[in-house]
Amino acid sequence: MQKLLSDLGTVTAIIGAQWGDEGKGKVTDILGEHFDVLARACGGANAGHTIVIAGKKHVFRLLPSGCLHPGKPVVLGTGMVIHLPTLLEEIEMLEKANIEIVHRLHISAAAHIVFDYHKELDAWQEEQKGKDSIGTTKRGIGPAYMDKIGRTGIRIGTPESEIKSALTTRAVSLKKETGLTMNVDHEMAEVARALKKVGSRIHASVPTLLHDFLSRKKSIVIEGAQATLLDIDHGTYPYVTSSSTTAAGALQGLGLAPRALSSCIGVVKAYCTRVGSGHFEAEEKGERGDRLRERGGEYGSITGRPRRCGWLSITDLKFSSMINGFTLLNLTKLDVLDEEEEIPVQDEHGTWQSLPGWKTSTVGITAWDKLPSAARTYIDWIEKAAGVPVRMIGTGPGREQMIVR
Ligand code: IMP
Repeated sequence: MQKLLSDLGTVTAIIGAQWGDEGKGKVTDILGEHFDVLARACGGANAGHTIVIAGKKHVFRLLPSGCLHPGKPVVLGTGMVIHLPTLLEEIEMLEKANIEIVHRLHISAAAHIVFDYHKELDAWQEEQKGKDSIGTTKRGIGPAYMDKIGRTGIRIGTPESEIKSALTTRAVSLKKETGLTMNVDHEMAEVARALKKVGSRIHASVPTLLHDFLSRKKSIVIEGAQATLLDIDHGTYPYVTSSSTTAAGALQGLGLAPRALSSCIGVVKAYCTRVGSGHFEAEEKGERGDRLRERGGEYGSITGRPRRCGWLSITDLKFSSMINGFTLLNLTKLDVLDEEEEIPVQDEHGTWQSLPGWKTSTVGITAWDKLPSAARTYIDWIEKAAGVPVRMIGTGPGREQMIVR
């Protein structure tokens, strides 16, 4: 671990290499122990980062998963869209577990607010699209980013009186365009409730704050949200989320200079899943897909939706590595493949072939040389084909179920 930590350097970003749900929460939690500052850059409560500690499951949607480590500063960056009641819920969950969070929270004043009406609008837009719907999480992400990019969004640092007046105006156009009714009083009550709890934690300049941390030699771990193939620019548009999910997007969302990044961890599942609509070349619709889903517990952590399952595409992984500049990979959920007779892989031309499976349990293995040789062959193949070393290998949901090399 020491060697890995020294290779990661001062600022590392954890970025999903596929369509999300690769298991970024677990690696953020593990690294959170060793880094000084925990930051999230983009996205909102569409994320659902699950981590398991002592058999207990915690799901984070807005706070970075590393926040379970007491006392460390937690930053919610400018690139985020924040649904305030969800943030309060997460704070409450931590407080119930006796983990103090409010006094170490730094929320960017320039992050945008997701209102409840954004969620309703998200659902409405999906309905309008009918069979062409994106399959969003209905957390209001698209509508909130539409407002942001359209320069009509409301930032967390906006004075309450201005929020009220902007919402009152918006309520009229919303009704006219969609027939939806916005409850301005309810939205304002939620804003007031949130400000009471975290108003003092709103930071006028997150870039300056992070710069100060760096000048005091503090290390930062950035937890990416969603994943590369869901990126608004580089993903499988239009079946993507509305934010920039890459390493570059994370830096932009936090206001960190590109040269501040010392390493970038690509998180890639040993197979592949996708929720929502859109292209998925290696999707396995039959019995094998069902087995991956059951063994991997592949159901949305916030929506409960069954995830589409299939195989790791090296073509996609190479693309993700290229645009993010992964310096190492964290291969997750290797043990889910334990029962497979063979594992489909692509050759250098993208043609699908297969490697033999290992048909034995890898659950909880923590040493590379204890892995069955067929599993090592599979990982060696990924490493070689992607051109990036696989330095962390997940063998179960628990914090300790990980091979580090
Ligand atoms: P939205 O981000 O809710 O607008 O959803 C857009 C697309 O991104 C849908 O296909 C979602 O299923 C997908 N998506 C958004 N967040 C996540 C995530 O955290 N994991 C996996 N898929 C996600």
